[in-house]
Amino acid sequence: MNTVQTHRAASHVTDAQQRFAPSLILLHWVIALAILAMLGIGLYMVGLPRGLPFKAALINFHKSLGMTVFLLVLVRIVVRLVVGRPAMPPMRAWQRAAARITQVLLYVAMIAMPLTGYLGSSFNTYGTRFWGVLLPKWGWDDKGLRELFFGIHEICAWIMIALVALHVAGALKHQLIDRDGLLSRIT
Ligand code: HEM
Repeated sequence: MNTVQTHRAASHVTDAQQRFAPSLILLHWVIALAILAMLGIGLYMVGLPRGLPFKAALINFHKSLGMTVFLLVLVRIVVRLVVGRPAMPPMRAWQRAAARITQVLLYVAMIAMPLTGYLGSSFNTYGTRFWGVLLPKWGWDDKGLRELFFGIHEICAWIMIALVALHVAGALKHQLIDRDGLLSRIT
């Protein structure tokens, strides 16, 4: 029996006290840290002058970490479907809806970001190295497609920043104003 089921079976545990499975807690924080780093590195590196070796190294690091985040997000989705999540604690209907919509959109952004980054990178001459290993090159040099995918990549980045801000603001409201211990479900 996994943690979530164990807690569901224990009737004295309220919804607010139920915890996520340890594997989901670990994946949540590893992915959260990696995404914050990816957003920072991405916004910083695009402003660096062309031809700088440091910029090329940073872009390669960005690509490798981004592909790793993509794999971790896939693992997270599978684990989430297998072990489930604890029931949401009691809250107003609009708050529950806002939390769910933000969470679903975060999953969409976590898939869209690496996908559009990879697609944009596939339509240039460099291709993508994954921690040094050159991935099979199936794309071609196409400025139009590259700009299309990188344009979506940039829009997704700003949407993701807004979603993360909302998500963190919600968590802080529960912790500091409602004081319902919600954060301890995922720590
Ligand atoms: C969680 C995943 C990712 C996040 C959060 C992320 C974030 C970002 C951000 C914030 C930018 C700057 C956008 C701008 O201001 O133009 C950027 C640019 C870029 N990203 Fe990502 N990225 C991710 C994954 C990837 C992946 C997997 C690749 C490639 C395999 C990639 C390739 C690039 C490239 C090449 C640029 C520069 C685009 C340009 O030159 O216009 N990214 N990324």
